[in-house]
Amino acid sequence: MRVLNDNVRKLFPLINGKDIAYLDNGATTQKPKSVLAAVDDYYKAHNANPLRGIYELSVEATDIYENARQAVADFIGAQSSDEIIFTRNTSESMNLVAYSYGRSRIKAGDEIIVSVAEHHSNILPWKMIAEEKGATLKFFDCGTDGKLEPDRLREIVSEKTAIIAITQVSNVIGRINDIKEMARIAHSVGAVIVADGAQSVAHIQVDVKELDVDFFAFSGHKMYAPMGIGVLYGKRKFLEEMPPFMYGGEMIESVTKDRTIYADIPHKFEAGTVNAGAAAGLKAAIDFIHEYGFEQIVARENALSAIAVEGMSEIPHVEIIGSQKACHHHGIVAFRVEGVHPHDVAQIFADEGVCVRAGHHCAEPLHRHLAELSGIKATPSTRLSIAMYNTEGEIKRFLEVLSEIRGRMGIK
Ligand SMILES: Cc1ncc(COP(=O)(O)O)c(C=O)c1O
Repeated sequence: MRVLNDNVRKLFPLINGKDIAYLDNGATTQKPKSVLAAVDDYYKAHNANPLRGIYELSVEATDIYENARQAVADFIGAQSSDEIIFTRNTSESMNLVAYSYGRSRIKAGDEIIVSVAEHHSNILPWKMIAEEKGATLKFFDCGTDGKLEPDRLREIVSEKTAIIAITQVSNVIGRINDIKEMARIAHSVGAVIVADGAQSVAHIQVDVKELDVDFFAFSGHKMYAPMGIGVLYGKRKFLEEMPPFMYGGEMIESVTKDRTIYADIPHKFEAGTVNAGAAAGLKAAIDFIHEYGFEQIVARENALSAIAVEGMSEIPHVEIIGSQKACHHHGIVAFRVEGVHPHDVAQIFADEGVCVRAGHHCAEPLHRHLAELSGIKATPSTRLSIAMYNTEGEIKRFLEVLSEIRGRMGIK
């Protein structure tokens, strides 16, 4: 096990030795040398179309791709690598579940429950299915502190509930949701639970068997891997019965003019040439995370979160969205500066080399809901999001700029 301290930053070429504070990790993370090397090695030494040829290079490309699938299965505690489907990202994974499971199972009168804290990619596919099938989309609301209470979910589920779609960690307020209890509630009424792990897998240990989720989605690029590779985990019993999501090469066993036999899982869901180079990078990213281990990662990120939240609480006219307690943020803090538009806030940060994001962070219902609860006009926010390579120095620099923002805008 490697010791996790500020030296880890040296392993990330884009930020090493550069005068930037990269605090937009919820959007995407930077990539360590080992991930870049794995992608480079794939294209320099092993590239061919995987799963197709029987010559040596194609076999190597296939092995790299399938080894990455096994690494993902081990990383999230799946029973078997057959339950791991490679997609482009979390959004595509959610669409796969909605188009394939949702379209074949949802009927008029059913209910789909999504939390109000979801990213749009875990709302819109369900909205589409609900409209198409005559089902109802219900929102599971949180309180002002952003907590999604399992008791509230218990009150709104019924025998009509077919799907519950919930994020494990919110990309705006950073809270960890009790997915295990929510899975129990879903199963008690015969519904399936789809969990969004986009903001969790790089930051906390995930075990899909322990959580007992039916589907679990995440993106490689938010966990130090390249863009263009994502994951959908699904329980075998569902994946085997689900129809394909996309059609084309490599997802069939046999095709004649009048008959098609689809391949077994997971290939049934991976039409066309796959992204083996990115899969090689994803495996390297998993190895990188394992080198440090979640115990150190969680401790470091929570310590940085605490410095950020405590520092922000002391700056007048800064409002933290969701819980005011540092322990609820897990590396993600969205905030507003009274009297300054979030885009101006982000611009001032950008001018100082601090990378943060402004807007609704693809979670407009959450912004509107929380604003309504506190009786204010809904506005977007600015967000800081932390990864394992961030340092106390970066957080201090962030706090210093934050304390100057109103003054720079000419507000006393
Ligand atoms: C919680 C959450 N879900 C889903 C997504 C969508 O991820 P992607 O853009 O990689 O599909 C994001 C991206 O920010 C997210 O934060």
